Amino acid sequence: MSNENFIWGVATAAHQIEGAWLEDGKGLNTWDVFAHTPGKIKNNDTAAVACDHYHRYEEDIELMAQLGVKGYRFSIAWSRILPQGKGEVNQAGIDFYNRLIDGLLAKGITPFITLYHWDLPATLQFEDDGWLSYSTAEYFAEYADVCFKAFGDRVKHWMTFNENWCSAVLGHGIGCFAPGRVSRTEPYIAAHNLCLAHGLAVQKFRQGDYGVVGIANNCDFREPLTDKPEDKAAAQEALEFFYGWLTDPVVFGEYPAIMRERVGDRLPEFTPEQKEMLKGSCDFLGLNHYTTHYASREKPEANVIGGDEGNGGIDEDQQVFLSKDPEWAPTSMGWFVVPWGIRKMLNWVSDRYKGLPIYVTENGCSVNDNDPSTAKHDGFRADFVRGYTAAVKQARDEDGVDVRGYFCWSLIDNFEWTRGYDMRFGLIFCNFETQERIPKDSYYAYQEVIKADA
Ligand code: NOJ
Repeated sequence: MSNENFIWGVATAAHQIEGAWLEDGKGLNTWDVFAHTPGKIKNNDTAAVACDHYHRYEEDIELMAQLGVKGYRFSIAWSRILPQGKGEVNQAGIDFYNRLIDGLLAKGITPFITLYHWDLPATLQFEDDGWLSYSTAEYFAEYADVCFKAFGDRVKHWMTFNENWCSAVLGHGIGCFAPGRVSRTEPYIAAHNLCLAHGLAVQKFRQGDYGVVGIANNCDFREPLTDKPEDKAAAQEALEFFYGWLTDPVVFGEYPAIMRERVGDRLPEFTPEQKEMLKGSCDFLGLNHYTTHYASREKPEANVIGGDEGNGGIDEDQQVFLSKDPEWAPTSMGWFVVPWGIRKMLNWVSDRYKGLPIYVTENGCSVNDNDPSTAKHDGFRADFVRGYTAAVKQARDEDGVDVRGYFCWSLIDNFEWTRGYDMRFGLIFCNFETQERIPKDSYYAYQEVIKADA
């Protein structure tokens, strides 16, 4: 892939930036309910207003145009389109995304739509058990079809889902994400229905002329701690439990063999018809990537990282120990800055899913600086952006990986889920009191990266 058609972009998600949670007919979603439950979110923050992007999208498009990005990845709020998740369409929701899409195209920015970035219409949780039920997958395909028909004349790049790993493990295993379920079995059931939902939606997609469709799954890189074969196997298996779990089904029609072996009958099975439907159901793969850990079969003596959250799955199923290099600098989320990890990760995806183009659909860095007078000077994030984009270019130019774009997370500070407004990922500072936007040093650093690659 040459740099000629490479898309440098930025990414956001509806629930994290839009606000207007009760406006123009939007229905409630599970994150509205979760965040309004006291004690679930840092400082009891909610996304009721967030960056007020619903009203300020024109200003935000202008900031993207100044930055020089060629692509914008955003998500559609399902409950703005279908307030109950199913049934009646809300025209005001369609109108909003039409305004946004037309505004982007007028500035020469290519829209990349994610259909689902975790904000499940609450009715589907209450009435249908959300992702624990196959009916939610069917409703998703109907919702997706409404979007393809409404926007597919102008939007040609689509992603069904964002980070299904988080919906499964954080939402149904650990319970720190909506809908807040705690279980060792449900993550596998939820993931199964999410994969099927992707397949059903892609069937609808391929009945029309809407461009290309993929999925944005996340994965941290796993580097073997030593050269020993058992550590190499541990790293490989950890990647299969993380990215492979949610991606193998939508490319090959089956879960990784190591998962079937280890998880046993807690891992649901696809029927032969479902396998056929899922096989080849991605035209490209998205990769959301944030950090790297070492993996080993035995517990290392030092620098061990514990817990499911850092593990990429249910830890006793994986039988892998993770550790860090004490030299790695952590971001304020505690995620280590390891630029070479994204290069290796891209090579891993490219080797496993041969022939599929890849987009880095998210990569970014949190710094929790809430003071408008100092937040502008985010040298740490500016260095992060320079380091990671250089590693992506190495994968593209030196390793021959077919990576076609990079979307920095995020355009602007926003509602960081369980961490509320305490964690800031933006290239642009958002003053959540006044809604003032202030581009940071990282915004200008990224602008330079884009210019230099033109
Ligand atoms: C992954 C998610 O897709 C996004 O919503 C989140 O804000 C970032 N990573 C940072 O945690």
